[in-house]
Amino acid sequence: MPLAPGFEYDVGIVLRRLFFDEFLGGYQSIVEFGSGTGINLLLLATQFPGTRLSGCDWATPSRDILLEMGQQQNRPIGAHIFNMLIAEGWDGAPIDRGSAVLTVHAMEQLDDKWRPFLHYLLARQPGLVLHIEPIFDFYDESPFDRIAASYHLERKYLKGYYSYLRELENSGKIEIVAARRVAFGGFYHDANSVLAWRPKL
Ligand SMILES: C[S@@+](CC[C@H](N)C(=O)[O-])C[C@H]1O[C@@H](n2cnc3c(N)ncnc32)[C@H](O)[C@@H]1O
Repeated sequence: MPLAPGFEYDVGIVLRRLFFDEFLGGYQSIVEFGSGTGINLLLLATQFPGTRLSGCDWATPSRDILLEMGQQQNRPIGAHIFNMLIAEGWDGAPIDRGSAVLTVHAMEQLDDKWRPFLHYLLARQPGLVLHIEPIFDFYDESPFDRIAASYHLERKYLKGYYSYLRELENSGKIEIVAARRVAFGGFYHDANSVLAWRPKL
């Protein structure tokens, strides 16, 4: 039991800052999919003052928050409506080799329906794709992990994605830069594991 009720959230923010620092420096633009409240774009705005930032979500309030956030930060933040399940809503105009793509706790919502979004990313050839997500494949047979795995399945969280990325790597289509279990989680599961990859040119 943590002493502070916000402990899990606060450590989660620290982890995000560390992973952004490790993986996202040096790109001209960063595009987050499933941006929600925009917390990651707010962190990125302070961490990378010169980088062009955009967020996408299928929920209209997310777009409205990002537009307001851009005004308050005194820098434009692109805001788009986009459905990751069918990869439609925005043509992804600024995504290219100079861009990094980010998802945080958003791929998790796609269950096994991530193929349209993956093909959308592959077609745009970003310089890096960074996911901070619960990854089912990283769990083992220990009692804690078995509980987390059954929670993951019950919630219909992301399935089959990491093994497909490995297939793509074996066939020379992508490079997996990092596949890292982050053994910090909440009562139910470990939501902060890292997958980083890029399409091969
Ligand atoms: C758990 S929230 C995470 C939000 C944010 N990335 C964060 O770290 O706080 C998941 C977000 O994914 C979005 N989302 C879920 N399914 C989506 C889909 N099919 N297309 C676009 N966004 C989706 C939700 O609307 C929500 O904003």
